[in-house]
Amino acid sequence: MSVDYNTIKGQLEACGQQHLLKCYDDLESSSQSTFLDQLSRIPWDSIPSLVEQYLNAQSCSLPRGDVAPAEVTIADPETAAELASRGEEIIRAGRVAAFTVAGGQGTRLGWTGPKGTYPATPVSGKPLFRVFAEQIEAASRRWDTPIRWYIMTSEANDAATRSFFADNNWFGLPRTQIMLFPQGMMPCLDASDGKVLMESPGCVAMSPDGHGGSLGALRRSGAIEQMEMLGIDTISYFQIDNPIAPVIDPVFIGLHADPERSSGEMSSKMVPKIRPDEKVGVFCTVGGHTEVIEYSDLPSSLQSETDAEGRLRYDAGNIAVHLLSVPFAKRLSEQNELPWHRAVKKVPCCDPTTGQELIPEEPNGIKLEQFIFDALPLAGRSATLEVARSREFAPIKNATGTDSPESCRQAQCDLYGQWLEDNGVVVERDADGHVLASIEISPLTAMHSGDLAGQELPARLDQGDRLVL
Ligand code: UD1
Repeated sequence: MSVDYNTIKGQLEACGQQHLLKCYDDLESSSQSTFLDQLSRIPWDSIPSLVEQYLNAQSCSLPRGDVAPAEVTIADPETAAELASRGEEIIRAGRVAAFTVAGGQGTRLGWTGPKGTYPATPVSGKPLFRVFAEQIEAASRRWDTPIRWYIMTSEANDAATRSFFADNNWFGLPRTQIMLFPQGMMPCLDASDGKVLMESPGCVAMSPDGHGGSLGALRRSGAIEQMEMLGIDTISYFQIDNPIAPVIDPVFIGLHADPERSSGEMSSKMVPKIRPDEKVGVFCTVGGHTEVIEYSDLPSSLQSETDAEGRLRYDAGNIAVHLLSVPFAKRLSEQNELPWHRAVKKVPCCDPTTGQELIPEEPNGIKLEQFIFDALPLAGRSATLEVARSREFAPIKNATGTDSPESCRQAQCDLYGQWLEDNGVVVERDADGHVLASIEISPLTAMHSGDLAGQELPARLDQGDRLVL
């Protein structure tokens, strides 16, 4: 569809952003139409209020209202079994889809490809996407239903992600079971005056709209419509960076569907924080609603507050695993009510009049992002399930140290070592309790330690041994 110059010009003038057209006449005609096309996809009506709200805002958005620790469900074995049987019924009925947010750039990790292509497993180095594909295949077999897998990419990594899937034959999953779609983009604002920055003549400087943008992306891509058509009513949301996250968890699904504990709109998993300044968001109750307060926004007095037993009061660490009902996701995607978070960054840009390239030495631009967990206070009652870090949370975020490929590999060896021990294998550990062998168990072999019962296993595993099952 061709876009009309005058319509765009009127929209830009109405929101004080007409500087963007200063170079328009100097562009070749093909660049003019690409530029108009880009401009037509930006929601100009909302720009003035965003400028007003975020130009001079503090970088952290402090919670409004009384803050208290979130109410958390700890499922004892009997409750877990009850919840699991309810959850399994829902999964078997084909009502659950997996949803990975994989739009991030992996900058902290120093990996140039899509993060999902990163080799994550300790022995064979399977990429993150394969690890999740195997989980989805295993879950589809176990519950006898093809579990759909939705993956949100970004403009920057969409093509590379698609090629990776194609090159790997969609990891053996039927092509129709997977849908990839890019997230939305937001214009970057000049931090000094709120003017939208130009990356180059004929191109606005844009940045991804955050994982909260996944709600809009689910709708625009047709994923929500497809889910409705297929009778899927529950979205199992997780991040690409945590290979041990169980992507389909019957206990969690059973909890989410329990009307006594949840409105069934949005539920979350947490792990107790290991130290006050661990870089995870924290589930809190604010004005009666569950919210996540990001680590950078939780006042340090609350971060380190302890109870009578010396346990951190605000210890419910967000592992970014949620369940959302499809009607809730749809409603939010239509209303687009999630707040924006601003980050002031160096944004390479150009002078809109001369087109001259400007390389910033200091942060000059505001990038705006939405966060998925800001949907929590918009839900009715929300359940938060405590899970074991050792079984469910070993993210790969940094190149070295905490939350790195190395810490994640060790966490996998420790977890799978435990599964083997549960099945009678002797596993050598160091003084800190870490497994010394390299062990990798595909979800296709076992989804938990019980699945190893009756399988042929070695008698023992010592330092230097390598085992792939
Ligand atoms: C995030 C959470 C934090 C939580 C932690 C658990 C935020 C702001 N914080 O932190 O509360 O404790 O994970 O690991 O999210 N992504 C997109 N598009 C984007 C931005 C991100 O798809 O525009 C995806 C990334 O690919 C990744 C995930 O979202 O899968 C998390 O993003 P990241 O920026 O790495 O969040 P963290 O700071 O690690």
